[in-house]
Amino acid sequence: MATDQLIATEAGPRDAYEGVLRFYELAKRQEWQVRDLPWNELPPIPEGRGSPQRRARRQDMWRSVLTQQLQADMLACDMSSQLLNIAPDPEAKLYYSTMVQDESRHTEAWLKLVNEVGGTAERDPYLDQLAHMTLEADTVEEKVFQMQVFYERLIISRFRLIARASRGTVLEDLCNRLTTDDGIHHGAGMAYERVLLEHASKKTKLRLVEAANRLLPTFVQHALWRPKERAMIGGAMRSRDLERLHEDIAIGVRLAESLGLDVSDVELPV
Ligand SMILES: [Fe+2]
Ligand SMILES: [Fe+2]
Repeated sequence: MATDQLIATEAGPRDAYEGVLRFYELAKRQEWQVRDLPWNELPPIPEGRGSPQRRARRQDMWRSVLTQQLQADMLACDMSSQLLNIAPDPEAKLYYSTMVQDESRHTEAWLKLVNEVGGTAERDPYLDQLAHMTLEADTVEEKVFQMQVFYERLIISRFRLIARASRGTVLEDLCNRLTTDDGIHHGAGMAYERVLLEHASKKTKLRLVEAANRLLPTFVQHALWRPKERAMIGGAMRSRDLERLHEDIAIGVRLAESLGLDVSDVELPV
């Protein structure tokens, strides 16, 4: 599979894939480099005020935020390279070649940033489990749905929140770039999933919804998980977290409906 040729053998363009190819061109135009970030001009993360202890606690909190994003982008490298390998359509392979580069560059940027502020903190075990479920999913349709339609849509609002809380830092600049990149990843995923589902059997669609349902309890644990560095804030934020979790799942349901999937059986685990 991995060594299949990238060029379509049939003559002429395939109209259904025009959307995917548009995102391929867009991705190439939007490419940036880690050295483009304002490393020497701005502080890496918000410097904070108050006593040295208070500032140290804030720094630990930020290290933990950075660690989760580094973890997510490392997993995104695994998932996008798997999609590059198994996607059956040459247009999709072209697109995924840019996504693999994007996720690798994101990982490089997070690694550099987290090293500038004292190194990584605790991993989110549920995020690892979620990625594992997507990597093990049976069909391309399921993988594209989970990764690009759902996760990459949700991450965009997270980047906006982090950017808002870290004005005037390298972290803000990075989050703004990732908002654009993941907007492209999500858009490309929607375009490709539409083509895939047009030709998918009823059984494939049913299994996709079942797989999403199976994933939800772990998604809830991931959404409510807090490392010890953020445990204090976590307690205060729990009702906000629950609210956001409901919103996220509602977005997933709406996205599935817009792709013509029957989600009447989806059970909300909260
Ligand atoms: Fe990424
Ligand atoms: Fe992404």
